[in-house]
Amino acid sequence: MKLIVAMTGATRSILGIKLLEALKESGVETHLVMSEWAEKTMQIETSYRPDEVKKLASYVYEPHNQASRISSGSFRVDGMVISPCSMKTLAAIRIGFADSLIPRAADVILKEQKKLVILPRELPFNRIHLENMLSLSNAGAVILPPMLTFYNKPSTLDDAINHVVARTMDQFGIENQLTKRWLSQ
Ligand SMILES: Cc1cc2nc3c(=O)[nH]c(=O)nc-3n(C[C@H](O)[C@H](O)[C@H](O)COP(=O)(O)O)c2cc1C
Repeated sequence: MKLIVAMTGATRSILGIKLLEALKESGVETHLVMSEWAEKTMQIETSYRPDEVKKLASYVYEPHNQASRISSGSFRVDGMVISPCSMKTLAAIRIGFADSLIPRAADVILKEQKKLVILPRELPFNRIHLENMLSLSNAGAVILPPMLTFYNKPSTLDDAINHVVARTMDQFGIENQLTKRWLSQ
């Protein structure tokens, strides 16, 4: 499997980092784009450095390189995840404003009718955010907000993060043992 992974400047950059680690572990070929604000946010809120996170990906693209292959519908890929997704990037994708590589690649994924999974992050959402999410859902994207889950009885922050990463991977049918599933009969 081959996936585009985009990270933008919303808080919770750890979700994108842990996703990249898990996809690497699962043998998925990853094509990573990090926005400038994703890099800054990562440095503000984690102890990871962007250069070490980039090493987790199979391929890395510059956020303004519109000539890169993931900018084209002719590139064969199974889908795209944006984790975390800022409200700015969400808005850009909603209106097809492909001024940089992340919204361009997402636009291409939608036009090629491939799977686009978006992990939007803001608290609270205003009406514009909600309308953008509804519109993208209507256009075929999966809106997967990284919400807290308690049925799996998380005891650490890692448990909570892994649950979101697992549910993201579930969207592509990628096997993982990152979280406990609800198996009650
Ligand atoms: C520490 C930090 C946290 C941020 N958190 C959010 C957030 O949760 N959601 C959001 O939409 N923007 C957030 N922002 C603002 C975005 O980084 C900003 O809108 C940026 O222009 C997004 O650009 P990008 O989508 O190209 O990464 C945050 C910025 C900083 C510095």
